[in-house]
Amino acid sequence: MAVRLDKFLADHGFGTRSEAKKLISKGEVKVDGQIIRKADSRVNENSIVSVADSDIVYQKFVYYLMNKPAGYLCATRDKAQPVVLDLITEYRKDLAIVGRLDKDTEGALLLTNDGQLNHFLLAPANRIAKKYYARLDNALPEKAKELLEKPMEFKEYKTRGSIFEKIDDYSGYLTIWEGKHHQVKRMFEKIGCQVVYLKRVEFAGLKVDNLLLGEYRPLNREEIEELLKYRK
Ligand code: URA
Repeated sequence: MAVRLDKFLADHGFGTRSEAKKLISKGEVKVDGQIIRKADSRVNENSIVSVADSDIVYQKFVYYLMNKPAGYLCATRDKAQPVVLDLITEYRKDLAIVGRLDKDTEGALLLTNDGQLNHFLLAPANRIAKKYYARLDNALPEKAKELLEKPMEFKEYKTRGSIFEKIDDYSGYLTIWEGKHHQVKRMFEKIGCQVVYLKRVEFAGLKVDNLLLGEYRPLNREEIEELLKYRK
């Protein structure tokens, strides 16, 4: 399927769409050996696109980081409610979500068609760090850090410990290594606090700092290489 050249470049780690447009207008981009100066030219899987004379090979695997907004389900499709894939305008149909955030949770969400990596990142035994910012309805108990950091027992599982960094009496960062259903909310509930706002600020070392809610970007080369160290 054909896509615009500026989008193709951005999808392949050559900066934002406007940075890609600049590269194109400077004459640094060739398609099938010809310099192309129009950002809206179309390329497809068979095009040989080169930037400064190095070929971009069509990517088999793609990796996107999204800053998920509240109100979207982590599902590929839903009859009644918006899903995170509605926010993706990519031409890849095989994208899958790595793990789940609740509908009302915001923050770092990885999407990829690399099934092996997806599987690896989700397996609790691999201890992939997930860091959350939580705001609470009640003041944290004095012993919050101690209570949250030691293994906590639930009906179906036991946490392996966590790291809690208090910000003030009503908020803090919690880093966990598993990713069980409603885990963060349930952990705070156990110490007498309801989560009123939850955002995943970091997933497997990836932060959403520069992305607005609902925005996503392809991972750059260094980020992909770092992630692939996890792939077995
Ligand atoms: N823990 C939760 O309770 N909710 C999320 O969305 C993610 C982790």
